[in-house]
Amino acid sequence: MLNDTLVQLMGDRESMPWHERRSLVNRIGETLRRQGDDRDALALAHVLAEDPKWEVRQAVGDILPILPRDEFMALASELANDSNSFVRQAAERALERRREGTRWQSRTRSCIEQTQNDLLVFERMYGKIAAENARAIAERWFEILVASTVHEIKGILSPLAATVTRLHRSESRNSLDNGVVSEGLAKMKDRIAFLERLVMDMRDYSRSVPPGRRCALLCAIIAEAQSLVFENLQANGLDSSPVRLFVNVPKGIQVRVARHQVVAAVKNVLKNAYEAYFRENRGLVAGEVHVRADIVADNVRIIIQDNGPGMAAVDLREVQGFVPGRTSKKNRGTGFGLPIARRYIMAHRGKIDIESREMGGTKVTIILPLGLEDPNDDDESTDH
Ligand SMILES: Nc1ncnc2c1ncn2[C@@H]1O[C@H](COP(=O)(O)OP(=O)(O)O)[C@@H](O)[C@H]1O
Ligand SMILES: [Mg+2]
Repeated sequence: MLNDTLVQLMGDRESMPWHERRSLVNRIGETLRRQGDDRDALALAHVLAEDPKWEVRQAVGDILPILPRDEFMALASELANDSNSFVRQAAERALERRREGTRWQSRTRSCIEQTQNDLLVFERMYGKIAAENARAIAERWFEILVASTVHEIKGILSPLAATVTRLHRSESRNSLDNGVVSEGLAKMKDRIAFLERLVMDMRDYSRSVPPGRRCALLCAIIAEAQSLVFENLQANGLDSSPVRLFVNVPKGIQVRVARHQVVAAVKNVLKNAYEAYFRENRGLVAGEVHVRADIVADNVRIIIQDNGPGMAAVDLREVQGFVPGRTSKKNRGTGFGLPIARRYIMAHRGKIDIESREMGGTKVTIILPLGLEDPNDDDESTDH
């Protein structure tokens, strides 16, 4: 079938209208997705990459990522120098995706090697049985993470699939009116946005904290976290003004940190404090959030406290386990906020503790190492 088309196009390209040639690229894509080395499909991709119509060449640019490596390299470098900017952009996007894939592969490989190495060192220090037990414990942890992630994703995909089925059914009955379509699309958009949030949180959780540390003013970190929380609440259609924020952080306190991660950790905790005042159908109700900090020995202690509904003892115990995916915020929370905060704080040899009482509010204490140098001083090792 594709072979006949190939012969036809090699003979006279114009014998097929250009929009059909563009649709043909999609068919080639489908064939290659099923069978990556289909020779006719690959030969056609080469022919169509030289098509006089830029729309056809752009379509080839869009299917580049599914081509085998050699074909990809040949066509991507050809299309990256195309005379048309849309075609060049499509090729650039494909090249960037490939680069990102390669970076990801080498990061994963070096992570696996590092972990295997750590296990060997552990075995040498504590013996084979202890190493096997350590591995078994890590695997159980891994099982919990995968199971809760699968549960979360299924919880998003099931209603998404149900909406698609409903729309399909209405379409086949010819009863698809604008109201049904826009309601279905709004639901799908909402679920996809949540899935994106979940994936981003998973990515943040799985990223290790870069080794570089710099001195930074604590009040600047708190202010940055605060504005991120405001932005986030606003993006979710929540008015933060009913909640009063009291910040009492001495101006001169410095911490020695990977700034981006510490801002993210404080942001996650502060966001929870605001969300403690969220009521369904009412948004945020009146309440207070207090942020204060002081110096204890060589450390800085940051306390973020709210007078919201708090947690029952049994829920608090679970939250104190910092296992990702545990959330009480149905369809809104991902349950990654505190686990991410904990990982980031622990990477600084810090600590994070949560105290809470049902109807008595929640208090989170973060301990970080004090920074003593000039905040403008550049450390040799830098954050990435
Ligand atoms: N300030 C708080 N007040 C009440 N409950 C809280 C507070 N902070 C955290 N929690 C509980 O801990 C859970 C996990 O929080 P987190 O990891 O940030 O995930 P998420 O906010 O996405 O649910 C929340 O769902 C909530 O049940
Ligand atoms: Mg949260």
